[in-house]
Amino acid sequence: MPDRVLARLTLAERASLTSGQSLWLTQAIDRAGVPSITLSDGPHGVRRQPAGGDHLGVEHSLPATCFPPAVALGSSWDADLVRRVGEALGREARAMDVQVLLGPGVNIKRSPLCGRNFEYFSEDPHLSGVLGAALVSGVQSQGVGACVKHFAANNQETDRLRISAEIDERTLHEIYLPAFHHVVTTARPWLVMSAYNRLNGVYASEHPWLLTELLREQWGFRGVVVSDWGAVDDRVAALRAGLDLEMPSSGGGTDASLVAAVESGRLDPEVLDVAAGRVLDLVERATRHAAEPAPTGWDAGGHHRLAREAAAQCAVLLKNDGVLPLRPADRVAIVGEFARTPRYQGAGSSHIVPTRLDDLLTEMRALAGREPAFAPGYRPAETGRCPELEEEAVRVAGGAEVTVVCLGLPAADESEGYDRTHLELPANQLALLERVAATGTRVVVVLSNGGVVRLAGWDHLAAAVLEGWLLGQAGGGALADLLYGVANPCGRLAETIPLRLEDTPSYLTFPGELGAVRYGEGVFVGYRHHDAVGGQVGYPFGHGLSYTRFGYADLELDQQGTEEDLVVRVSARITNLGERTGREVVQVYVGAPSTQVRRPERELRAFGKVELAPGESAVVRFTLTARDFSFYHPLRRRWTLEPGTAVVHVGASSRDLRLSGEVTLTAEPPRVVLTPESPLADWAAVPGGLEVLRREMRPPAETGQPHSRFLSDSGLRMAGSVPLRRLARFPGAYLDPDKLERLAAEVNALLSR
Ligand code: BGC
Repeated sequence: MPDRVLARLTLAERASLTSGQSLWLTQAIDRAGVPSITLSDGPHGVRRQPAGGDHLGVEHSLPATCFPPAVALGSSWDADLVRRVGEALGREARAMDVQVLLGPGVNIKRSPLCGRNFEYFSEDPHLSGVLGAALVSGVQSQGVGACVKHFAANNQETDRLRISAEIDERTLHEIYLPAFHHVVTTARPWLVMSAYNRLNGVYASEHPWLLTELLREQWGFRGVVVSDWGAVDDRVAALRAGLDLEMPSSGGGTDASLVAAVESGRLDPEVLDVAAGRVLDLVERATRHAAEPAPTGWDAGGHHRLAREAAAQCAVLLKNDGVLPLRPADRVAIVGEFARTPRYQGAGSSHIVPTRLDDLLTEMRALAGREPAFAPGYRPAETGRCPELEEEAVRVAGGAEVTVVCLGLPAADESEGYDRTHLELPANQLALLERVAATGTRVVVVLSNGGVVRLAGWDHLAAAVLEGWLLGQAGGGALADLLYGVANPCGRLAETIPLRLEDTPSYLTFPGELGAVRYGEGVFVGYRHHDAVGGQVGYPFGHGLSYTRFGYADLELDQQGTEEDLVVRVSARITNLGERTGREVVQVYVGAPSTQVRRPERELRAFGKVELAPGESAVVRFTLTARDFSFYHPLRRRWTLEPGTAVVHVGASSRDLRLSGEVTLTAEPPRVVLTPESPLADWAAVPGGLEVLRREMRPPAETGQPHSRFLSDSGLRMAGSVPLRRLARFPGAYLDPDKLERLAAEVNALLSR
């Protein structure tokens, strides 16, 4: 239909198709039979606003299941689970007449301070990509489009509509693009949303390299590129760069600028037709799917149960001296307002109205079969201490063997739209914790926070810490299940918990200054940094405890092919050594060599989650390819494998590597091509190169020197960085500048032998 329809549209109608009709609708053209379709946030629930609305999560939306936000799903390390959540989201979207869900967000957690980290999966691109793709596949399996966002390098909220993320090419390719690449090439989302920010000076929404060369020409994306809401600065430039759809409606103003640009010859009408055609394709695809028979409602109870099951797989047990799981006979008290009034999602465009809301207090009561003693202890919205509430909490805890203390970030501390400035829990909550611990009760801390908080300084007061993140509407039930051992913790950290903010790699450059943020840490983001500097962390990437233990054995590495065809099959036997059924996240890290660039010690390249009954074992298998051993070579502008020895680790976290083996990589060493501009040291490093120079750089016989002093050991060390053409000008070099091209050819010939 698109071509036929397009042919019947006026120029103004074509232009209007490439921007929204309203906040959530695409432009309908009744005359030509083109309907609107509805786009809604995303990503952890359907935010369907009946009419009008807003994109900052303020006004009402229809009730929908609030699944665990990405910060929690990221910690599940479970693609099957995330896919099931995606399917449920798709079902709800269908039932609410939503054709496109605006998610997932796969931006990297560059700094723990990003106010929107709760909407992103991880500090690691592989984990983010795999889970993002799973969500997209789930949503789209229901005939609803997914929209991966925010493309690209939207890693902070400060000045987010203008800031320029200054990122070198290698870092972009190794850290900030791979998750998008994986989602686009494996799950084929219907849409990609361009980010608000600039990338190296150019708005992401107007970036021809990003939106066309890379996304379409190299990655083969065939869907629609939509702007983030209000991201477009110059509409003509955006369209030219590859942005198909501006959202929301701009009231016709920017459509008129497109028409004027075509009429004045500044914009090729073909470019407009291509974008309008893509929007028509999307509308046609969406309406075709929407017309397919589907259940009109969804099973709210079933989805709530799925939300609870998912949440239980996301919480991370950070420490446990054996106090958990609680036994029904334990005398347990609960302290902390978050037990009664949960924090379960973040603020902003992803904020949805849940169908139900579990709280920990009610759910623990249900599991224990009796009324636990409870004291709120603090008021979440206030920073000041409240002596009466603290007294009451101390009284309650003093009479209990174990006290579950619910702490976390107040809602106002983290949101879309602004960043955090520190990693601390509120002082009134920490004071409460100290007082409760001083009663002698055993303390179990349950945390609710979307961004990482610092534990160093207080976690010694706790016998156990359960990091609950923001767990969605059924989080209260899931936490109760975990505390009482109805569920066995199996979440793992998708981001490092640092000892101090000052230890994080972007500490000195986040969130930038004077309109730009320089990603000076390069590829050394998260654990890549901490491992490179051998730094202590609070809790490492990949960490998480269980109520059982797992043994790792029998690592096998089977290597086939070389260079681009390299395939390494990895297998290991995992055994449940404890007395409870549990799930282990098996993580594969690769440390690969390079003589050219500084590479991380090791990087996550594969993972899998396996469920094992007590005593049961299973062999888990992974396949690594050449890309998993390569780095992005910024001069060759492609992924490059260097010869040498790589190490493959299989382990339970980035710092708990249980098995290691070596792989010998064979590859052509990156070809060095000498020119007269190459420094003396490069010439001397080529086998035979020094001999050629010695032959040429000869002083007159009367000096008695066999060759120029620059070629002695000390001369080479001191003048090694001087380009040969400039060295030739120095007295004492005895090198004929006119011969340099010929000498380069001679030495290059030696290289290719
Ligand atoms: C957010 C997007 C969201 C859009 C629509 C923007 O503020 O950055 O993630 O999809 O609003 O609500």
